[in-house]
Amino acid sequence: MTQPLLDVLPDPDALARHAAELMLAAARATDGPFTVALSGGSTPKRLYQLLATLPFPWERTHWFWGDERFVPPDDPASNYRMTREALLSHVRVPADHIHPVPTVGLTPHDAATRYESTLRAILAPERPLFDVVLLGLGTDGHTASLFPGKPMLEERDRWVGATDDPQGAPRITLTYPALESSRETLFLVAGADKKERLREVLAGDRRLPAARLQPQGALRFLADRAAADG
Ligand code: 6PG
Repeated sequence: MTQPLLDVLPDPDALARHAAELMLAAARATDGPFTVALSGGSTPKRLYQLLATLPFPWERTHWFWGDERFVPPDDPASNYRMTREALLSHVRVPADHIHPVPTVGLTPHDAATRYESTLRAILAPERPLFDVVLLGLGTDGHTASLFPGKPMLEERDRWVGATDDPQGAPRITLTYPALESSRETLFLVAGADKKERLREVLAGDRRLPAARLQPQGALRFLADRAAADG
């Protein structure tokens, strides 16, 4: 397993700045298409707002989502909506470089199938699918929409699947094979409520979905002091 690195930052703002710097450095290290799988939830919002202020290579970056709540794109719970408001509506990203999970007019299963077709049409399977995968850590140890005890944790062939969260709300998620096909995986973990989980994940507690991720490339946890002072 890739030995995870841990960067501890003083606070969520410093964490977001550090993540933005790592992403910009990764983008500058190549001159071809740059592919990013974005995380949802609340932690990455500050990162996305910061990214909008940086000289990122918008013209050659493709934006995907590691998971999505199965709600319309203008729903307050939508990860796409959060990213559009914090980042994408403020920068000149070619429209055909933004690849949201389809969540309107089809079943979750069909949405997962269609999103997988999108990934397979755009991403090159002979190299890591993503240059950067951003992930969060739930207080139950989930990441993306890979929740404890769900059959989706065992999926090793498909790249995208339909699942649900512990409350039964439908979710679309990239599976381990897709999320692990990454040059650089960054977990963003902030807040004292994540302290115990982060400690367990870093200790390799495979009961937690986040701890089971084995990316091809670098694995780095970015934590604020509140989450890291285990
Ligand atoms: C989502 C995310 C999810 C998130 C964690 C942490 O759709 O909610 O993909 O995996 O990263 O739940 O969320 P917070 O950053 O809000 O704590």
